[in-house]
Amino acid sequence: MLSIQPVGFACGTRITGVDLSARMSPADLEAIRAAWLEHLVLVFPAQTLDPRSLVAFTRHFGELDDYATQPFNRHPEINEVFVLTNKRSNGKPSPTYNSGQNWHTDLSYTLRPAKGTSVYCIEKPSVGGDTMFANMYLAYERLSPKMRAFLDGLECVHDASLIEGLDKRGPEVANEFRRLNPPVVHPAVRLHAESGRKALYVNERVRNFLGLSEAESRPIVKFLCEHSIQPRLTYRHYWSVGDLVMWDNRCTVHLAVGDYDPAEIRHMIRTSGMGDYYGRYLDPEVAAAQMGGVSVSKDKKTVASLHD
Ligand SMILES: [Fe+2]
Repeated sequence: MLSIQPVGFACGTRITGVDLSARMSPADLEAIRAAWLEHLVLVFPAQTLDPRSLVAFTRHFGELDDYATQPFNRHPEINEVFVLTNKRSNGKPSPTYNSGQNWHTDLSYTLRPAKGTSVYCIEKPSVGGDTMFANMYLAYERLSPKMRAFLDGLECVHDASLIEGLDKRGPEVANEFRRLNPPVVHPAVRLHAESGRKALYVNERVRNFLGLSEAESRPIVKFLCEHSIQPRLTYRHYWSVGDLVMWDNRCTVHLAVGDYDPAEIRHMIRTSGMGDYYGRYLDPEVAAAQMGGVSVSKDKKTVASLHD
């Protein structure tokens, strides 16, 4: 029997009594979908998954990203599986050894940010390496009415250059990452397509508000980031091997806490559900030139097709 038990006030619930590697009943899938919309972060402990069964399960919730915008650590045979690991390969550090170490929502620096993300834990350090989540509905709702009205009319520039530790992954990876991910513009407040609620969509990868200078934007972005990650709006997940954690990127931000011994292995596999086309390039012509001279128009679909 599927059982749903909240583990955090702001977000997070634990779901037991289900084997995600098995064929899922429509009733269980519907219960999981409803819990996901209500609790934003789902934890399925003690699962036995491999890359193929992870893909099979997460496909129930929509089309998966093939990680064309970050091809560095895809699974060698399955493009839809991304490997988050600090294991070295061919004597080189993994390009994902320090992924996710500032507060963000996945792929917000692309035109089509991830709707959901699922991460399965294969190996973990003896202590540390947790993942923290914050509820961005609550972050929005707990702002003053005047601040909410101010943000409702604003758009933000999301810049992949602001990914914490990007340059530490080496110039080859960092430069290619920037080339494939020119700055994009998204609304500062997102209307969630399924819940109909508004969520703050500002995080530590936002450079500035469109129409405001970086100097004007910086203190507001800093305030909003601090406001949204206050402890009472968060849930902290302490990983166990076999956990599958699945979250909604449209209304949460998260942080991979880098507080573990780098000599110990942290190894996880991930899929990302494709979200709606939500953004546009800050400068479509520059984006087209740096991405290989593909001709783009201001038409959203044409520009978006660069990421297909
Ligand atoms: Fe992430």
